[in-house]
Order: sequence, then structure tokens, then C-alpha cells
Amino acid sequence: MAILFDSTKRIFTLQTRTSTYQMQADSHDRLLHLYYGRRTEGTMDYVLTFRDRGFCPNPPDAGTDRTYSLDCLPQEYPSQGTGDFRSHALMAETKDGKIGCDPRYLSYKIQKGKYALKGLPTVYAGEEDAETLIITLEDPAAGVRVELFYGVLPESDIITRCAKITNLSEGTLYLHRALSANLDFVTGHYDLISFYGYQGLERSFQRNPVTHTEQTLISRRGTSSHQFNPLCILAEPDTTETAGACIAVQMLYSGGSMAVAAMDPFEGTRFQMGVSDYAFRYPLAKGETFTAPEAVLCRSGKGLGDLSIKLTDCIRGHVIRGPYKNKVTPVLLNSWEACYFDFDGEKILDLAKQAKDLGIDLLVVDDGWFGKRDDDNSGLGDWYVNEKKLGMPLSELSEKVHAMGLSFGIWVEPEMISEDSDLYRAHPDYALRIPGREPVRSRNQLVLDFSRKEVVDNVFAQITSSLDHCQIDYLKWDYNRSISDIYSCTADDQGRVLYDYILGLYDLLERIGKRYPKMLIESCSGGGGRFDAGMLAYSRQIWCSDNTDAIDRLRIQYGTSFGYPNETMGAHVSKVPNEQSGRITPLSTRGIVAMAGTFGYELDPAKLGEEEKAQIREQIRERRQIQDLIFFGDYRRLSSPYTDPVTAWSYTSKDRSKFVLSAVRTELHFGDEPTKFIRLAGLPEDAMYRREEDGALFSGAALMDAGIPLPHEGGDYQAYEWHFTRTDRA
Ligand code: GLA
Repeated sequence: MAILFDSTKRIFTLQTRTSTYQMQADSHDRLLHLYYGRRTEGTMDYVLTFRDRGFCPNPPDAGTDRTYSLDCLPQEYPSQGTGDFRSHALMAETKDGKIGCDPRYLSYKIQKGKYALKGLPTVYAGEEDAETLIITLEDPAAGVRVELFYGVLPESDIITRCAKITNLSEGTLYLHRALSANLDFVTGHYDLISFYGYQGLERSFQRNPVTHTEQTLISRRGTSSHQFNPLCILAEPDTTETAGACIAVQMLYSGGSMAVAAMDPFEGTRFQMGVSDYAFRYPLAKGETFTAPEAVLCRSGKGLGDLSIKLTDCIRGHVIRGPYKNKVTPVLLNSWEACYFDFDGEKILDLAKQAKDLGIDLLVVDDGWFGKRDDDNSGLGDWYVNEKKLGMPLSELSEKVHAMGLSFGIWVEPEMISEDSDLYRAHPDYALRIPGREPVRSRNQLVLDFSRKEVVDNVFAQITSSLDHCQIDYLKWDYNRSISDIYSCTADDQGRVLYDYILGLYDLLERIGKRYPKMLIESCSGGGGRFDAGMLAYSRQIWCSDNTDAIDRLRIQYGTSFGYPNETMGAHVSKVPNEQSGRITPLSTRGIVAMAGTFGYELDPAKLGEEEKAQIREQIRERRQIQDLIFFGDYRRLSSPYTDPVTAWSYTSKDRSKFVLSAVRTELHFGDEPTKFIRLAGLPEDAMYRREEDGALFSGAALMDAGIPLPHEGGDYQAYEWHFTRTDRA
């Protein structure tokens, strides 16, 4: 049993393999949080302490008991209006302007299997692999019902949370905030690890202590964004990659999210995550329900490396769906950096021929094959094939590429519209824009109003009419701006638009996925602006960044790896000097870095010399040799690209019989500089490993304690990849 209920004390306990989560419906019927920590038995209601604290108010039901204050008690889903002055998870307003509610415990339900949410992505699991707890709270006076959902996947060490808020009143209820998860800790100090960035340097790592200054991390962009990735980790201050306690909270949501972290004056820590409350005022008519998207919680007592492996395994086994679940994806050549908008069918066929010669599996035609699209100022919204530009129908191009023995893919940006497009000329109201005002443009494009079903239907009809007639094995689904003009001409309240937009997006993704069940979908957003676990439920891989510079990629992929599997990170070898940075790195280094992702190429092979082509063939052979380790093994960060002169990582098979060590030297100094050692992690101490390259033998313990020395060679950005096999047992 993963979910236990102690009916005497009204305590709910959620048990996973290594963690325990506990809460209590107290004598006032409020749901208090007791514990989220290492696995334990028993009840922890002793963590609740009661003292009369000045200026901490008492709710009316406390009577003269001045020690009962929600301002200092740990809660499961704190709401505004109860005398708790910390950040709230729920804030509701009735039609006549009464703000505040105090939902109390009413009932609970425990069921086998994992709940699902209509229209939103969720972690899924077999009946036997998960249990669900639903706790219902109600405030009849405010007309608010809250259902808190908990999904427990014991073997995966995963607990999911979400909330449904229903309006029980006669008038409209407005939600100003309805977060997905709230974690209150009565004690302890934490660092908050989060991932910020911009287009070209996504998921930059930052680690700051949680202090008495409230920190709010937020995306106000309508999308999960380059700027704030919806993954946060609370780590004890001494937690490292290989030791210490840490808890991750990860949203399965692709719109704007927010997180709030603060230590209260009494040294309790509150951490919350959910849909961004920016421009959010969700109207609920009588009987309507709002669903706060799912948040995934995961705890490790063995450091950040172990935490990332658990999150990765959860995404691999319980989020990713479709034809490439548990399958290796093809090595591709993408036309973007090879020719941008400047191509015709013959150029694509030439790229395909070259790709085939190198051993590549899939040829992708990026932006520019549709409508009037020779640059990024026009054509979005017109998803008909530009046969004049291609010189042939898309079906013919696809057939010819297939005839060469390659699979074929194309790029789309379904959520966008150019003002210079047939769609805009016919339906200007399809764009999100504020009436009477010039719209804010970004990449000279506007965003379609996906909160409207007819808009989603129109795009679906257009895309399917182009795709139905061709064999398209891969779709790159792009999204190249943030939402600024939040106005839908059919919405009853503009405060719902950003959330409803995401429902429209998921609806279209679901329909496209069903229509083409064998197709591989890679999502993208100006590179990695929508790299979130929600998108991974619909797209097997996500383009990690428009920045293909191998050295910048070390940071981008390092940050991403904290919460997402490496094989979901779109990563390509591109030419040098790099198109974005102008940096020159060896081809071998670019290959080793891209191999820590989906692996592909984004260059014109016709411009390469024979020696480089031979090297690429060798890289593809190497990728095929180690792909099972990358796709199904454990990835470990062995050093940091921020602080170490060598960035290193390893992929270890689950049975630890094999591992590959990769390292890139990012700093080089005078020849006498000290030797750099890479210390491995996650190996059995008593195992012996042979390095395949030279037959050298190492013990697991020594690899982790002394490490392995890196050769000192001249030349910028040298990289190494070594293969190790366990020798002490068959
Ligand atoms: C975005 C993507 C690129 C490319 C271009 C095409 O920037 O991130 O990979 O597809 O759009 O316009």
C-alpha cells in the first residue's frame, strides 16, 4: 500500500521506495502538512507546535485559543483569507467582490492506478504501479470546492500533485491564483536551484539560499519560456551531486509557470509552484471546474545526480508516449543552418544524397517550404505547400528522399500567424491582439488565438491536408515568440486566455499525434524556449537551443539534464566557425557534445572535406554503438561547466556493466598546468572496469575517489570519450 490513512488521527501517508509524505486533517478540519522526507513509519503530527505569537491571527473557529494560527502552521493548500500572510496557493473572489476562502476537509478517496486530467498531460502508470489519493475540501460560504489529487508511484519515488477548484456558488467565481503544489517545511535550510536564460543560453543553472526575502520566479510570457524553466530543486545547503537531500518540483505544463520560495519569520520554509498568476483571473460559472496542471515531486537523499536519474526515468517511463517511447530516435540532418530559407527541391535532394552517404537516417526540411515564406516576415498560418519554390509537390520530394533510403521530416509553426498571410487576410480576428491597438510584434509575427476551438480546427485542417498526402516521418513543431497581447475576441474574461490557449495547444498536439501515430515529433521554441515535461508528453524530443556552439551547449545541456533525459535534448553538430558564436571547436568535440542529446547534423555536407566526412561517418558509428547507454542508461554530471576547466559526464548502463565517460576541456593553460582528474560517480566500489581504448584496469572505488587523469594536449577545446566494461563478472 502506497497510500495509508490513519482514521484515528486522520493522517494520510504517502509511501514511495525512499520517501514519505504525510499530512493531517486537524481538529479544525484544516489540512496540515506534516512531513516530506526520507522514508519512515509512524505519524509525525508532533512537528506541529502551538504558541501564542503576536500579530499571528487566529481563525474564528479557534475561539480564544491564540496558539492556533494559520500564519505559522504548515499547510497543504493555503488559501487567502485565513489569516495566513505567507504566499497563497489559492485566491478566489466571488462575483460581488468578496475575496478569501477557507476550504475545510470533507472527505477522501483512495484508488488504484494513477489519475489522469482531461486535456492536460499527466504522469501515467499501470494500475499496479500507482495509487491515487483525492482529498476534498470545501468552503460552503465562499462556494469553493478544492479537490487535491496525489498520485503515488512508489517504485519511481514520484508523487504527483494537482488541484481542481469548483465553483459551488450561484454567481461567477474568479480565481486569481490556483497553484498546483505547496510544500511547507517546519524546519531546515534550503537552497533553491532554478534554471533561467534567454534564447541561446537556456536553462542556465543558479543556486541561491532560500531566505526571509520571498523569491518569485515567474514566466509572464504565456509559455514555459527560455527565461524560467518550470523545474525547481530545493536542496539542503551541503547537498552535492553525490550526497545530500533534495526535492524537485517539476510542472507538466507548457504555459507560464511560477514558483515562490521563502522562509517565514519562524524559520519555516514555503515553496510553491503552479500556473503563473500573471494576467490570470479565471472565471468559473456555477458548477465549473478549473484544473491546476500537474506538478511532479521527487525526493532523493543521495544528491542531485540521483534526483536527476529519478526524474529522467519518470519522464522516460511515465510521461513520454507514442512510437518512440523506449526507442532510439534517428540521426537527422536538418536544413536550417545548411541553407536557411534559400532552398528548392533539388537542394533538399542534394542534402539528402549527402546525408545518405554519411550514414544519416532522416532528412528534415526546416522553415520555408509552405505559403509565401522566403524570410521570417510572411507566410505563417498558410500551411499549403509552396510547390513553385520546391519545384515539385511535397509528396514527390518525400518519395524521392525515401527512395534514397532516408526518412523525411518537415518544420511547422502551427500557433503563429504573419500579418502577410492569406489566413490573416481572411481572419484577422484569429490573432491575439488588443482591439484598437497596434499589436506588439516579435519576429514580425503574431500568435494565433488557440483559446478558440475554431482557430485550432482551422490549423488542424490545413496541416493535415498538406501532410495527409505525403509520408512525413518527423515533424518539428516550432513556436517563435512570447504572448504579449492577451485579448481573445470571444473570451468572456481575458483572465482565462493564457490557460485556455495551452488547452488548445495540447488539443492540437493530441490530434496530430493520433492522426500520424508513427510520426516522431520534435518541439522547439526559438531553440529551447518551451523545454518542459508537458511538451514531452506530446513530443519525444525538444530542440534544446538555437545555439549550436559546442562550448555553450555544455552549459545548456548541463542545466537541462537536472530534470530532463539527455536523449530528449535536440542537439546537432554544426559547422565552424559557429554561426552563432563564431567559435571554432574540433569536429570531434562537437560530435561528443551532440551525442549527449538526440544527435544529428545541421550543416551542408557538400562544404566538408573528405577527412571531415570520414570523421562524421565514424561519429555516427560511435553513436550507434553507445546509443543504448544514452537512451536507457543513467546520465551523470561529473563536473560543472560553470566552475571546472573540464566538463565531464558519463552514461552508465542500469546494470553498471558498462559506462562511457565524456569530457571536454574548456580551459587550457601553460603546459605545466596541473593534471586534471575526472572523478566518476554511481559505480559499484568493488567492481573492476577495463578501458576499451587501451585495456587499462581501474576499480570502481578508485575511479570515484582518485578519478582518471586527462591527457594534456595542446589545442582548443579537446574532448575525450572512453568506453569502460566491467571485467570482474560476466
Ligand atoms: C527557430 C528554430 C530554428 C529554426 C527557425 C526557423 O528559431 O529554433 O531551429 O527552425 O526557427 O525559422
